[in-house]
Amino acid sequence: DILDESVSTDPGVIVPNRQPRITNVNYKLAIIGEAPGADEVHQGIPFVGFSGQQLDRFLSRFGVLRDACFIGNICQHRPIANRIAAFDWTGPEIQQGLLRLASDLDKFQPNCVLLLGGSALHAFKDPTTIPRKKRTPDGMTFVYSSSISDWRGSFFRSSMAAPKPEVKCIASYHPAACLRQYEWTPLLMLDIKRAFDAARSPEIVHPLRTLLVGLSFEETVHELDKLIGTRLPIGTDIEGYWNCISCISFAPAPNYSFIVPFTKLNGESYWSLDEEVIILRKVSQILGDPHLPKIWQNGLYDRFCLQYGLRMITRCSTEDIMLKHWELYCELPKSLATQASIYTDEPFWKYE
Ligand code: URA
Repeated sequence: DILDESVSTDPGVIVPNRQPRITNVNYKLAIIGEAPGADEVHQGIPFVGFSGQQLDRFLSRFGVLRDACFIGNICQHRPIANRIAAFDWTGPEIQQGLLRLASDLDKFQPNCVLLLGGSALHAFKDPTTIPRKKRTPDGMTFVYSSSISDWRGSFFRSSMAAPKPEVKCIASYHPAACLRQYEWTPLLMLDIKRAFDAARSPEIVHPLRTLLVGLSFEETVHELDKLIGTRLPIGTDIEGYWNCISCISFAPAPNYSFIVPFTKLNGESYWSLDEEVIILRKVSQILGDPHLPKIWQNGLYDRFCLQYGLRMITRCSTEDIMLKHWELYCELPKSLATQASIYTDEPFWKYE
């Protein structure tokens, strides 16, 4: 497909977006890719080549009818060697493609748009930014402001300037990228499932959480005291190193957590010496309680830092979400960001 230059890259040939042929279903899902390849030009239908077949396999796995989905691209012209950056972002191929997509999506009125790959993500999330081009060993690529690996799996509303403004979107890796980078495949499948479930209604339901930061000494003591003597599991996590633990967080419930800082960003202690002694004793009491279950994210590291650095012994470590996640999907990244993108509806937060 990539090397097949025999099929036209004639600037006049376009592969139109496809409206669903089946409409009596309870979901409205639009699937948007980048640009057609040789097979698509040959048949005049988007997503019918290798990546289209891969996409079809995943859709059918979750019971999504391809013919009930809108299938389109941000650009309807085939770029040379299938490199979208062979075109200029501000050039006619992409800009007219976005206009066509806008008018086609306006007819369809999706509840959810599944954006496959960085170009589709850019067109819906940051359409007013013109991406610069970068030369790579594989050819020209665009450098997008939002990275697909950060944003995949998060629900967000598209920009006012997107082909469909303020619509619920979720991005994922492009099936063609998954064919090259096989370990991304489970993420694409999980994202397709999420998009399908989300396509039943236009709303985005983000979890409501109370995340307490910047508490005073009295408030911190109050929160810690509430945990002392309890028996319900708490999530906990440290930041920093054995010789400088900057903070520890406690989550006594999925929607409630607070942070206990130890150092400021410049490394100075956050508290006066007397306050720090009181806080450290309470933290130590909670961590050392043999009847208070702790849930860690890579607790082996945290518990080493706490014990070696602060001489705090942890008891009753019952669960480790990093290890549990690793058992389920050993080929996927083990970061909290990846886990959150799979197991929760929390949007990507790492830049906040
Ligand atoms: N890749 C895309 O992004 N779109 C297609 O239509 C086919 C392959």
